[in-house]
This record gives sequence, structure tokens and C-alpha cells, in this order.
Amino acid sequence: MPQPHQHDVLIIGSGAAGLSLALRLAEDLKIAIISKCELTEGSTRYAQGGISAVLDSTDSLTSHTQDTIKAGAGLCDPATVELVVSHGPSNIAWLQQQGVHFTEDQTATNNPGLHLTREGGHSHRRVIHAADATGKALQTSLEQQVRQRSNIQIFEFYNSIDLISGSKVGLNDNRCLGAYILNRKSGHVETFSARATVLATGGASKVYLYTSNPDVSTGDGIAMAWRAGCRAANMEFMQFHPTCLYHPHSKSFLITEAIRGEGGKLLLPDGEPFMHRFDERAELAPRDIVARAIDHEMKRLGSDHVLLDISHRPADFIKQHFPTVYQRCLSFSIDITRQAIPVVPAAHYTCGGIVTDHQAQTDIPALYAIGETAYTGLHGANRMASNSLLECLVFGELAAKSISRSLAVKKPLIKPPAWDESRVTDSDEEVVVSHNWDELRRFMWDYVGIVRSNKRLQRAQRRIDLLQREIIEYYSHFRVTSDLLELRNLVDVAHLIVGSARRRKESRGLHYTLDFPQRDDDNQQQATVLIPDSYRHRSSD
Ligand code: FAD
Ligand code: SIN
Repeated sequence: MPQPHQHDVLIIGSGAAGLSLALRLAEDLKIAIISKCELTEGSTRYAQGGISAVLDSTDSLTSHTQDTIKAGAGLCDPATVELVVSHGPSNIAWLQQQGVHFTEDQTATNNPGLHLTREGGHSHRRVIHAADATGKALQTSLEQQVRQRSNIQIFEFYNSIDLISGSKVGLNDNRCLGAYILNRKSGHVETFSARATVLATGGASKVYLYTSNPDVSTGDGIAMAWRAGCRAANMEFMQFHPTCLYHPHSKSFLITEAIRGEGGKLLLPDGEPFMHRFDERAELAPRDIVARAIDHEMKRLGSDHVLLDISHRPADFIKQHFPTVYQRCLSFSIDITRQAIPVVPAAHYTCGGIVTDHQAQTDIPALYAIGETAYTGLHGANRMASNSLLECLVFGELAAKSISRSLAVKKPLIKPPAWDESRVTDSDEEVVVSHNWDELRRFMWDYVGIVRSNKRLQRAQRRIDLLQREIIEYYSHFRVTSDLLELRNLVDVAHLIVGSARRRKESRGLHYTLDFPQRDDDNQQQATVLIPDSYRHRSSD
């Protein structure tokens, strides 16, 4: 049996949120970073467009705040928006100190001399970027820094199963003591205890059949926190990116919104522009509007894609600003300097998540959540482009301060019991997992996608109930595998998405339903907060 692990801080997740937090914590703390695959694998690495922050003298924090609130369709928490936006410029400087190189502009009027691009919903150029591979630049630099720190231990190919609650060892509070984590290489479940545990596990877009996200985005942190007794908010607001490459051999490749920011036009298959019919901001309307417009036109014409055309810009400009997109499309024989790109919407971002406060603290003592897995109130009903990496960094910084304060008071580290697998055997029916995985993702796409209805949501709910029963039975009889754990989490997340969508009796931001096509500011202008039974019991004690 492997020895239990003990750390001051256990960080589950190695994207922008997890790595930036680890680097901001003091070097005398013993830190573990857990990653389900290689350290680099997560949404962060694939981010293209950039990071929003106010650098230009003609721009202002007020303007960034207002744009974010407008895109969020009345559901942003203004205090959170101001907090995040005001920390933007210092976080860009911090990234530069960590060695991240952003695209420069000799003619720029901002102080660090960086090129600023534009994306949907932003009224100014304020997106700082490293060509069209911002995430890669960020992930690589932070990874290099983290690997140099002797106080940070990295566990790759470790899949976190569940959080360990104080009640497991007879404490009368439910404080988080750490997590049970599957070592994917050995197949053993190992016990990690820590004074502070942080979920930085990213989003849940893999719950849909088509997504821009990598395979690790299965909502594990949201599901673990929910099972442990944390509230989840705004889970109905799943963001669909308007433009992913449509090609039979391309798996989930994003075509950055910055292409539209630099003049790219959306066209019907016959070459006719259409976005001006849906919004006066046309191609630069917020994502919910653009994705819905594309979905509408594809259904109206029975077409399986629309086109995105940047070929009117000089070829050198395109190759310099969008080298990743240029090369990838060329590998499919699409030369974007001369041809339009076939595109379709795909699930992209989880606006809701685990409820946290401005210290990144969840409902459970000693448990924090940061990045895409958390609900902070920043995004409201629709995230504005490039606000996500910013949120990861700012809440990484805030969590570091809050954890440092709480660890200053030395409390004994409590040893949780080892994982018990005495009553389970190896599964001989892996097909159950793969079948349910496919079924879930397909009905979520068909019934809980860009356009919803009461009937579709009811159908989805019935199927989720059935899957949840099957998975609980399977889980209690068989040894855990990564696929089973991810399926269990995806089904729990689907339950939260559908449950939240059924409560919202209006259309707002990313949630559009045929039964309530209008926005209802009189009755519905608040976040949807789902409360687990264990939270209710605690509150009534
Ligand atoms: P991630 O970077 O997704 O990292 C999650 C980590 O958690 C991974 O290390 C994973 O292995 C680990 N993990 C998950 N579950 C477990 C588990 N059970 N056990 C152990 N480890 C686990 N946002 C912007 O602001 N600007 C952009 O330009 C932009 N472009 C994007 C382009 C693409 C293609 C995509 C997919 C997203 C983009 N986004 C962008 C969104 C942004 O990249 C993400 O929201 C952000 O990177 C999330 O960072 P994170 O640290 O929260 O999670
Ligand atoms: C993009 O580059 O279009 C993605 C930006 C984002 O998701 O914020």
C-alpha cells in the first residue's frame, strides 16, 4: 500500500489557476500539484485570443467593468467585476516577470508597449496576447517556474476522486482534510492530506458531444465539491464558442475570436454576410448572440457549417498574428490567406461553478476553488472573451493571500483513513462506461445545447436520473478507473446544468429556451444557486 502524502497545500489542477497560485505561495510551504494527465494538459494550454486588461491610456477600468457587466446580461456581481478588472494590469506585469513574452507593438501607446487586440463585447482594444498561442506561452513559462521550486511536488497522471471531509474522522465540522486520488499508472488510490485544499480543475465542456476543450475538462472539481456539500451556481450558463473548425479530421480546434476582432467576417455558405441582421455590433457582438445567430442560420438553411473569412487582410498580417490557426488550417488544405474557413459552434466554457467568496473560499472550511471550476460572480450569464485567464490569475493571487493567512495559525495535520476497496472487484463490463459516456454527451448536445425547451430539458433529466442510478451501482461494485470517475463527474455536472436550466423560466445570456424566449428582469434577475442536501443539514444544525 502506498504511504499517505502530507502537504501544507494540496492544489488539484495545473492550469493557469493552479500554477499561478502555487507560484504565489511562500516557498517555505510544502505544496503538491496534482494533474490528471501531463502537467501541460488543460484548457489553459490551448487558449488563443489572450488576456484582457486595461493598459491603454484611452481605455479605463470603468469601461472594462461596464463591458463585462453588459456581456453578463444583468447577472454579474459588480463587486467581483471591479475586483478582477482592477487587478488586471498588475497580473500582466506579474506574468511578464514569470517570463511570459507577449506580442509587442512599436506604435503602441500603452506603457509596456504591447499589441492589444479586440474581441466580442470589448469596446476597446484591451486583449494582451502572444500571437494566437497565448495559453501555450503562459502555461510553458509557469510550468518552467514551478519545476524549479523545491517546495513544490508535482504528481502527473493522478486523478482526484473525492474530497475527504472532517466527518470521516469523527470531527464535528466538515472541514476538508485532503483528497483520495487515483494514481493512474499504478492503479492504486492514494491518500493526500493537507491543511488547505484547492480545486483548480477547470471546466466541464466535455459534457457536450462537440467542444473546444481538451479531454480533461470533465467538471471533476464541481462534482467533487457538490458531493462534499458545496453550493453550485449558474450552471445553466454553458458558453458555446461560435467558431470551431468544421472538418471531418479535426478534433475540436478553435478559430480565435481575435480573427473577428481584426476584421474577419462571418458568411453563409453562399458568401452572404448575416451577422448585421442579428446585432448592430455584428461579428463583435458577445458570444451568446453570435453562436445563436450561427445556429439559427445553419438550421434555417439545413447547412452543417458557416464560413469565417479574413482573406481580405494582407497575407503577412494573417501569418504574423494567427500563425497557429494558419498552420492548422493549412494542414487540412485550407489556406486562410485566400479562403474562408468552415466553422461551427462548440461547447467552450463553464460560466457557473462552485460558489466562492472574494478569498476563493468555498462553503467548506479549508477548501478553496479557483479558475474555471469556480463561480465568483464575474461572468454572469455570459463570459466576455479573454476574461477567463484573467480570473484564473486574480483568484490565484487572492487565494494565495487567504491561504497564507489561514496557515499562519498552526493547526495539527489530521490523518484521514486510507481508501477502502475491500468490497470491490475489477470490472468486466467496460462497455457500460463507454456507452453511457457517449449517450450522455449526445443527449446533452441535442437537448441542453444552444437552444433549449421544457420538453428537451425534461427528457434530459429522465436520462440523467437513470444514468446516475446505474453509475452509483457500478461505482459501488467495481474498482475505480479514470473513465468511470470522469463519467460519474460528468453525470453529476449534467444534473446540475439541467437542474439550473429548468429553474430559469426566461431566456438570458447563454440560456435560451423556446418556452420563455424573453428576458424577465422582474422575477429572474439573480444567480441560480443549487444547494446540496448536506449543506441544508449543516445550515439547520
Ligand atoms: P485548466 O487550464 O483547464 O486546467 C485544469 C487542470 O485540472 C488540468 O491540469 C487538469 O489535468 C486538472 N484536473 C481536472 N480534473 C482533475 C482531477 N480529477 N484530478 C486531478 N487533476 C484534475 N480564456 C481566455 O481568457 N482567453 C483566451 O484566449 C481563451 N482561449 C481559449 C481557447 C480554448 C481552445 C479553450 C478550450 C479555452 C480558452 N479560454 C480562454 C478559456 C481558458 O483557457 C480557461 O477557462 C482557463 O484556461 C481555465 O484554466 P484553469 O486553470 O481553471 O483550468
Ligand atoms: C478565443 O480566442 O476566441 C477564445 C477567447 C476566450 O475564450 O476567451
